[in-house]
Parts: sequence; C-alpha cells; structure tokens
Amino acid sequence: MIFRQLFDSVSGTYSYLLASRAGGEALIIDPVLEKVDRYLQLVRELDLRLVKAVDTHLHADHITGLGALRDRTHCITVMGENTKADVVSMRLAEGDKLTIEGMSMDVLYTPGHTDDSYSFVMHDRVFTGDTLLIRGTGRTDFQNGDARMQYESIFGKLLRLPEETMVFPAHDYKGDTVSTIGEEKRYNPRLQVKSMDEYVELMRNLKLPNPKMMDVAVPSNMKVGLAQQEIARRGWALSAAQAMALSGRPGVAFIDLREKSEREKHGSIPGALHAPYGDLQDNIRPGGVLHALAAASDKRMIFYCAYGERSAMAVQAAQEAGLLTAVHIEGGIDAWKKAGGALMR
Ligand SMILES: [Fe+2]
Repeated sequence: MIFRQLFDSVSGTYSYLLASRAGGEALIIDPVLEKVDRYLQLVRELDLRLVKAVDTHLHADHITGLGALRDRTHCITVMGENTKADVVSMRLAEGDKLTIEGMSMDVLYTPGHTDDSYSFVMHDRVFTGDTLLIRGTGRTDFQNGDARMQYESIFGKLLRLPEETMVFPAHDYKGDTVSTIGEEKRYNPRLQVKSMDEYVELMRNLKLPNPKMMDVAVPSNMKVGLAQQEIARRGWALSAAQAMALSGRPGVAFIDLREKSEREKHGSIPGALHAPYGDLQDNIRPGGVLHALAAASDKRMIFYCAYGERSAMAVQAAQEAGLLTAVHIEGGIDAWKKAGGALMR
C-alpha cells in the first residue's frame, strides 16, 4: 500500500494520499487548496492516477482542495450525504464503501464536530476527520456541532474499533501524527468522562475563539461544484424533464456513469447502459464501447450520474474525443428523481 500523510502548516491540516500500488488509482482525504500543486506533483512522482478526492466534513479553517483537484484531474469529489456543499460528485452514507482499485473503506457517520462529519475505516486504520483528534476532540460549538452527538460518535462508534486501530485525524497542532484507539481511550483527556452529560459540560466550557479562516472558508467550501452552466451554454445539457421526454425513444441511449453500488442503492433509469466514470477514457477511445456505440448509429448519448458532476466532465471528454452526440442530464439522477422520472432497481 502507498500511504502518505501530508501537512499544511498554516491550518494544521493533515491530508492523506492512498493507493494500493504504483501505477494504480489513488484517493486523497481532506486536501487543502494551497497544497494542490504539491499533491499533484507527488501523484506524478509516485506514478498514480488520482480518482477520488474526499472531505471528511465541511471545513471551517481552510479552503478545500476538492474543486481544484477535480478541475485539474477530473477526479470524483466525495463527501457524506449530509454535507451542505452544493455539488460533490458522490455522496456516501454510513454502511457505504469508499473504494478505489484494490482498496475499500467503510463509511461511518460520526456527527458532533459538525453535522456532516464522517470517518473512514480501513482495516488497521481510521481517518477520523475532526471527530476524534490525538488527545483531543473537534470543537462542537459551530456548524451545527453537538457535543451529545459527538459523544455518541466517539464512544458508540470509534472507540468500539479494535484498540490497535491507528487513528489519523484531520488536524494536529502539537506535531503528533498518529495515535491508536486504545491510546486515546486511556490518555485522551476529553474522553476520561463518566457520562455524556459530563462530556457536554466539558465541551461547553472550552470557550475557543472562532477559526481565523471561518468566514471565508465555510461559504467557499459550500461552493465546490463544477460550473455546469458552461456545459449547458454549449448545448450539451438536458434538464431532467427534457431527458424524461426522450426516455424510451429510439435513437437515444442513456448511459449511467455511477458505480455499481450507487446504482443498486438509488436505482437507475430503465434501459440505461452502465459505463462507470472511472472507465470513461477507455470507453470513449477507438475500440471502446461508447466510441463504438456512437460510431455504429447516430444514437444520441445521454450521460448521467448522481448530481451531474461526473456527467458534465464526461460530456466534455466525449465531445473532445469526437463523440458529438453526447449530452448529459443536469443535476443527475437526483434531478431526475425530483422531476418524477421512472427508476429501476
Ligand atoms: Fe473541522
């Protein structure tokens, strides 16, 4: 496994780059905007292909690198389903898996620091965001934070992981880089409480100043979405209603870019072909299934995904590859569902 812990000294943020092998797919957790060049350089040096950029929660102390990484690598942006960020390509819920080639993480919903905080568990380690820090816990006094929920998340979920599980948080201000669940159980001063009420009382009395970046970072991090208007301006977008009117017509092929697990969980458009976004480059080049589909007929190809991000990037790539009938559904299956479109499971 390739594993790198990267540090942004301005905000005290740890970001994590993971891949199962050189030459393979990589994902990054909690990237910081100012460090994007550094991450991409490392991705190149390690001969990796960045396919997913993940935030554990909406950050208040730095601007996320999700949007910039998406724009520069066409990777999939990922957050938990409760995020208030406008558009991310993929939203995960507890019980879902965060996967790349050769690697799978379990998703835990661990609210408390914010109401959109998630942790990711991969056999010997857990990425805890700001829910559980080394000898500390994330503050709970803004962004819909809730000390009771945090107590539940920590005592009810994280501390139930095996004691030797390594803890990799999103921040540290003292220079500690890693801990374990067992160590935190015994030595984290915030966790030496006898009850939820005692924890709530402890958190209430912290009286921390707001993070310096908060007024800039929070609104900015809520707007990470790809500008889908540009795709629409070029005539490559359909509204969900327009797409519904074309459903079942000859000469139209709906193409689902989501992962298998997303299709199973949320349903798909009846008759759609499955061509996951991760395989797009192979599928649109000569010899690929989508290239063949476009060449064999004058079929209009309608891409869709969860929220329209992956499909917007796919339309752009398909058009550049000469597949000129490609369009996408703005807002993805989410918009389709809201418009009353039929779904198949
Ligand atoms: Fe945070």
